[in-house]
Amino acid sequence: MLSKKDLLGLYDCSPAEICEILDEADNMRAFLSGKIKKSDLLAGKSLITLFYENSTRTRTSFELAGKYLGANEVNISVAASSVQKGETLIDTGKTLDAMKIDFIAIRHPMAGAPALLAKNVKASVLNGGDGMNEHPTQALLDMLTLRRKFGKIAGLKVAILGDIKHSRVAKSNLFGLKKLGAEVVMYSPQTLMPKAIERFGAKIAKSREEAIDGADAVMGLRIQLERQHGGLFPSLSEYSKFYGVNDGLLKYAKRDAVILHPGPVNRGVELTPSLIDGKSSEITEQVTCGLAVRMALLKLLAEYRENNL
Ligand code: CP
Repeated sequence: MLSKKDLLGLYDCSPAEICEILDEADNMRAFLSGKIKKSDLLAGKSLITLFYENSTRTRTSFELAGKYLGANEVNISVAASSVQKGETLIDTGKTLDAMKIDFIAIRHPMAGAPALLAKNVKASVLNGGDGMNEHPTQALLDMLTLRRKFGKIAGLKVAILGDIKHSRVAKSNLFGLKKLGAEVVMYSPQTLMPKAIERFGAKIAKSREEAIDGADAVMGLRIQLERQHGGLFPSLSEYSKFYGVNDGLLKYAKRDAVILHPGPVNRGVELTPSLIDGKSSEITEQVTCGLAVRMALLKLLAEYRENNL
């Protein structure tokens, strides 16, 4: 059983907790393949989605996860909320708490905002991405996709290429994959590589070929223009030419290697369209696994709340 009220990041999760989430998410993935996607597991519980940044996959899948499990689900449109009148995050959280809700899924541009909220509310907080810090449910869905494809995580080589510096996806994947015994190799322009990333177990490759050589999975990361302040690489076309992944480069990976991307994809920048839409791509399966992971987390956190709060 999960021994925490909130899911804030994978840095703080034990390998056993990650495995428990993946096991439950496997059950939910089977549930999603069934004809009737409705259960009363979370009947009487309430989930709020509170996203201060745009999202398609994460927010929608949290909402559907709550609905499929029978919870009441409300999305707060931050642009139309009292946040615009200057209400603080803590005051917003306490207001939602007073409505007796059980879960808040939050995305926020500031690293640490979900942790601050979690300290100040009774509801369980699920981090849907905080600044350049963590995106734990994305890494969990990536790991579920890999485990379902290869039957294991330990021993896999995962190459992560792209904007590592601004990527919360890269950090959560590094923490989670290393805890389950995978090798994580990263490659990006020097200006997009955080200086201390090796301290957390990442290997830094000197070329795309070296990163992809013998890899079981090749993950392209989105160039996050919204978090950059200019001058980190010359142009998108040069980025694509020197740092993007194409069919020729995939030949360095293992024969059954898979292509991953958290989305949204800048087509033709991080990955060529032929890879995005090709037979090695697991990008749509990642989205389905994301829904399964978020359902699993709501179930496990509800069990924790039942037994501990
Ligand atoms: N991968 C991801 O977080 O996608 P969204 O921004 O659409 O939620």
